[in-house]
Amino acid sequence: MSARKITVVGAGHVGEACAQRLAEKELCEEVVLIDILEGIPQGKALDQWESAPVEGFDTRVTGANDYGPAEDSDLFIVTAGIARKPGMSRDDLLRTNAGIVRSVSAEIARVAPEAVVIVVSNPLDVMAWVAKETTGFPRERVIGMAGVLDTARFRSFIALELDVSVEDIQAMVLGGHGDTMVPLVSCTSVSGIPVSRLIPPERLAAIVERTRNGGAEIVAHLKTGSAYYAPSAAAVQMAEAIVRNKRRILPAAACLEGEYGQEGVYLGVPCKLGAGGLMEVLELELSESEAEALARSAEHVRQVMARL
Ligand code: APR
Repeated sequence: MSARKITVVGAGHVGEACAQRLAEKELCEEVVLIDILEGIPQGKALDQWESAPVEGFDTRVTGANDYGPAEDSDLFIVTAGIARKPGMSRDDLLRTNAGIVRSVSAEIARVAPEAVVIVVSNPLDVMAWVAKETTGFPRERVIGMAGVLDTARFRSFIALELDVSVEDIQAMVLGGHGDTMVPLVSCTSVSGIPVSRLIPPERLAAIVERTRNGGAEIVAHLKTGSAYYAPSAAAVQMAEAIVRNKRRILPAAACLEGEYGQEGVYLGVPCKLGAGGLMEVLELELSESEAEALARSAEHVRQVMARL
């Protein structure tokens, strides 16, 4: 099972890595990479396609500056945006990226009205809302990527702490991406063993804190630019769940319609992803402190939405 065509919008660090992972996993017959910069998507796509004989994949990779080649794509991964530049406020960044995501979303709705959209551009929860509003797509077909990345970071740190395989670690996080992430420690296990039985509370708290700051830790190393290997892996895992109809339970940003007491706001929750995108939002019973943290997270997303 795979898709015919997947389009990645934004041929920057995250976008190019998404395109390469999609092709290497042969998740579709064709990957289209789109960017406004002339020559960049074409050059990167051609370079990736030239790796096909060595890596042994038959997914065609092409680059473009317009949406003609993206027509009738089954799925889009939206990574277009800009990073904050000196002198720019967060609101400037928010408005700029919202403008970009709005124009990208309008093109998506025009060329592929039945597509599923995975939004990666930040601030994620709000950009997913902008994409949903602009495309007019139902919530099933506009999902944000954050939770898979946050749990991947959490799992990678737990694996290091316990010196065990990452494969045996399961975790779930809720809430917004980054600072307002709500890790569900009670839902984190190592081959079914609750993590609290293996790691003392203060160490676990430190790992949770490192996870929250995972993006900033990478930026501090790189100085220019932000993470892209783990973010692209996370976006492509969601794409795989959808195009292969795997019905995976993954944390993702979904537009809530009453679940967890929230309405009309994108928030990270456990989602069932398969054919058609979001198949179901799983509603868990939360502890008092988890519920409070999730409500704070939703409040934060609403405040950013109000600034638009
Ligand atoms: N249409 C298509 N591409 C665009 C548009 C647009 N309207 N506007 C900007 N872009 C492109 C830029 O030309 C650039 O190539 O988006 C790309 C962004 O790439 P990077 O600057 O390398 O950013 P990246 O690290 O890939 O992050 C992209 O994902 O994780 C998030 O916070 C991150 O919002 C950021 C996004």
